[in-house]
Amino acid sequence: MEVKSVTCVAPVNIAVIKYWGKTNEKLIIPLNDSLSGTLHTDHMCAKTTVAISSRFTKDRIWLNGKEESLDNPRLVACITEVKDRARNSGKLTEEELQWNVHICSENNFRLAAGSSVIGRLVYSLSSFFLLSVFFSVYALATLYKIDGDISAIARRGSGSACRSIYGGFVQWITGTNPNGTDSIAEQIVPASHWPEMRVLILVVSDSRKKISSTSGMQRSCETSELLKHRVAKCVPERMTEITKAILKKDFETFAKITMQDSNQFHAVGLDTFPPCVYMNDVSHGIANLIHTINRIAGRTLAAYTYDAGPNACLYLLEKDVPSVLAAVNYFFPTDRPKGEYYRGLNVDVTSVPKEL
Ligand code: DP6
Repeated sequence: MEVKSVTCVAPVNIAVIKYWGKTNEKLIIPLNDSLSGTLHTDHMCAKTTVAISSRFTKDRIWLNGKEESLDNPRLVACITEVKDRARNSGKLTEEELQWNVHICSENNFRLAAGSSVIGRLVYSLSSFFLLSVFFSVYALATLYKIDGDISAIARRGSGSACRSIYGGFVQWITGTNPNGTDSIAEQIVPASHWPEMRVLILVVSDSRKKISSTSGMQRSCETSELLKHRVAKCVPERMTEITKAILKKDFETFAKITMQDSNQFHAVGLDTFPPCVYMNDVSHGIANLIHTINRIAGRTLAAYTYDAGPNACLYLLEKDVPSVLAAVNYFFPTDRPKGEYYRGLNVDVTSVPKEL
């Protein structure tokens, strides 16, 4: 039996300029540009294998060994579009194009952490299912030998995950085309540009977020005046300034914009009606601690950023990891072993490992 397969290993990304809101729900076209660092760590990645064969009787997907329904419209849209592009590229025979697809995706978060803490954290950062959808598209595009940019298709799996297609710092640009073909991810710099950069993930809560990003951002678009101001004025300026800071390796400016953008994103959540509240008291406590240690040190040691949940992501330089961790451990002691609780330590921002 002939089977063609491709495997890719994909990491998560942490946004410093947040994506929040869509102009087209179906095509997942964002309201604003966004920018993130892609994490490179063996602890937090998803491995997806995609196979096509004449013997497969239907399309199927397994996540962490459990077969899931293929009813999800986002996944169906992705598979259909990849097949259309493959047909146009003429690189596969008509017969091969008729073959069904099997997708198998696993994350190693639980295995690596020795508990589900990191796994669930990542689930809330970017739903594992949608991450899998996204990387299925990536693997499928390779399998179907599609040339050119595929982030525009993959974006339809999950918005923010499309930035993980590249390593280092990556922007996802809104684009101007109403059909979304120019709404793509682009690498700003590879990880080797700023090798000292580190990310600490502080797990405040490992439960799933109460309001999904998809419905939270819909509600913000409908009700938040602040979101309009953010999109028209703040994000364009910040994208320009933070890109310059990354190119110059200016951590002070990078950190300030990162914290300001996270704060504004959560302010938009509060300006939404009914409000979307993602940070809790511990999240705010950590943000206060970071401002305090930065003030005492007389320079910026770390920058916090929070996605649609209470967990803190700290961007910092390698030389400051020991002092920042010491402060966090002192003020937020935990009964869990430190090594496990702050498992995100020494997460490098580096290129996407691919096994293609
Ligand atoms: C707060 O990518 O989860 O993490 O496109 O609807 O699937 P959908 O939303 P999603 O949004 C994540 C938003 C964010 C900020 C960011 O990562 O840019």
